[in-house]
Formats: sequence, structure tokens, C-alpha cells
Amino acid sequence: MTDFSALTIVVLAGGISHEREVSLRTGRRVAEALEAAGHSVIEREPDAALLPYLRANTPDLVWPALHGASGEDGALLSLLQAMKISYVGSPASAARLAWSKPHAAAIVAAAGVATPASITLPRDEFRELGAHSVLPLIAEALGFPLVVKPAQGGSAQGVTIVSEASELPRAMVDAYTYSDIAVIERRIIGTEVAVSIVEHEGITTTLPAVEIVPRSGIYSYEARYNAGETYFYTPARLTDTVTTAVSEAALTAHDALGLRQLSRIDFIVDSDGSPVFLEASVMPGLTETSLFPLAASAANLTLPEICSQLALDAMAASDRGAIPPLYSNTEAFADDPVTE
Ligand SMILES: Nc1ncnc2c1ncn2[C@@H]1O[C@H](COP(=O)(O)OP(=O)(O)O)[C@@H](O)[C@H]1O
Ligand SMILES: [Mg+2]
Repeated sequence: MTDFSALTIVVLAGGISHEREVSLRTGRRVAEALEAAGHSVIEREPDAALLPYLRANTPDLVWPALHGASGEDGALLSLLQAMKISYVGSPASAARLAWSKPHAAAIVAAAGVATPASITLPRDEFRELGAHSVLPLIAEALGFPLVVKPAQGGSAQGVTIVSEASELPRAMVDAYTYSDIAVIERRIIGTEVAVSIVEHEGITTTLPAVEIVPRSGIYSYEARYNAGETYFYTPARLTDTVTTAVSEAALTAHDALGLRQLSRIDFIVDSDGSPVFLEASVMPGLTETSLFPLAASAANLTLPEICSQLALDAMAASDRGAIPPLYSNTEAFADDPVTE
């Protein structure tokens, strides 16, 4: 049995994604929280030296505090699984699904949660079919206002609110700057809320929903990472009925996507009080201005408590041999040493 009292944990942060700075801030905070709880922390970047380092100095656990591609898309997680290194958070396969907004929306919609009407359009198809024929069709089918965004990404980069047809071409170009696939969806008017989820002892719990009210009206990059630019209400100013509906929708999305340990599920509550799913975050930001820590403190939980608990739970799961297999159909790959 492993000694669970004090673990050696590699916190991964940084990387070359568009969200490098945010990841570094999350990583620092996780490292401080874990150290405060008595664990030994080594902070590393996901660079060319990482895999050799992990092979030579196998830590008890990795905490992938990565935002943006390669950290959140499941790629690095599947390599950790291949190395049989335990880590905090969701299996690689689930991260891959959640990372793609149109895939996540399709799965969550199939589980019965409302999602915005949308059209997903790869850049090559947009070019082939021609903007002059595609854009009027989109405008006709979805109407305005719309939101145009990259199919993957975070921190609102490449996301544009489009109020009229003339703004659409520019918004498409912006989204394609961040991804080869753009999503155009109906703008849902209502109250934006984020629900943080934590699993412990087999029970999945939602923390109090955080209501997001940006001063500028748009929850942009600037509104997210500059103190005072956004007002947060925790718990969100919702009726009890809507609060319950939001919490249930968050749990449904978390389960449908196969997420584990922690996540953040974002919604807009529309004028009817229905939660409309926007996206799921596999590795929610934990910076000073992030939503997950706000929700935690509203639940009277400190970051050292939550982070340490998540680390100990991940460790206990791996001690029981529960590092997720690389393939979902394990029988078909029964001879494969990695999945055994
Ligand atoms: N369909 C939508 N209706 C209304 N607002 C939206 C919609 N999609 C996105 N937004 C707004 O844009 C922000 C960023 O979009 P989101 O899809 O969450 O991207 P990111 O992953 O960059 O956070 C959201 O926080 C929300 O304020
Ligand atoms: Mg978002």
C-alpha cells in the first residue's frame, strides 16, 4: 500500500497553448495548495524534457494544470496513461470529447440537456462552398444574434458575438485563427452561470453555481483575468427550482461526457429558466479570478483541502489499479500490455 499522507506530485503547467499564462497561474495555485496540505510538489512544463523526466523520477501523481490544446484535449493524458502514471482528473478519452465543443454539445444534448441551435463548419468546407452562399444560409437558419467561436479553445479567445450579417465574415476569420473548425450558434440571452463539480468517496457533488456578470456585458479574456472587470454572485441569484435544474443539468453533462473527479460545466439560464449548456471544462481554471475557487469558498472549502482530497482520491484509485485503460473495448486489446 502506498503511504497516502504526503505525496510527491508533479504539477504540469504552461505549455505552448494560447492559454499558457492562465495555466501557469492555475499551476502556481495548485502547487501552493498541495504544498500547504503537506505534499511535495515539483512544477514542470509539458516540454521535450517531460517524458524522460517522468520515466526517471516516477512521481506518485501528476496534476495536469493545463489549459488549451495538448493539456485539455486528452493527448498528454493518454501518454500519462500509457506510462501508467496516475493523474488527477478525467480519462483522456473523456477529455478529448469535452475539448471539442460541438462533440460535447451533441453528447450533452443526447443526454437531455438543452444546447444552443448551432452549425459547425470546418475552414476547408467553408472555403469550398464559398462564404457568399454559406453565410446567408446560416443567417437565415439561426437568425441573430449569434455567437461565433472556435470549436476548441478557452478564455473566450476567438469568440465573437454577432448582432447582424455584416459582422459575420470577420467573426468567422477570428474563429479560424484559433481552430480549423468554427461553431456558429444562436446567442442565448439570459444569466450566465458556471457549476463546479467535485467527486469524493463515490459521490459527485455540485458546488454553489457562480453567476457571471461582466461589466462590459461580454465575458471576454479581459473580463476574466483582470480583477474588478466582472461581478460574481455566489450562489447565483436563481430561484430554488432553477438552482436545482442547473445543478441536475451539470451532473447530467459531467456523467454523459464521462468526466471524473472535477469539472466545471457552463450554462446560460434562458428567460424560461432552462439551463442551456455552453461547454464543459475538464481542468477548470484555479487562478485568483477563476470560478472554481469562488464556488469552493462558497461551500466553505479551501483550495488546499479540495486539491489534497482530489490528489489522495486519484492516488487511492490508482492503488486499486484504476488507471483508465487506453481503449474502451479492453477485450479487443486484451493482448496489449498497456491495457492489461
Ligand atoms: N450560445 C451562446 N449564447 C450566449 N453567450 C455565449 C454563447 N456562447 C458563448 N457565449 C459567451 O461567450 C463566452 C465564451 O464562450 P465559450 O464557448 O464559453 O468559450 P471559452 O471556451 O473560450 O470560454 C461565454 O462565457 C459566454 O459569455
Ligand atoms: Mg467558456
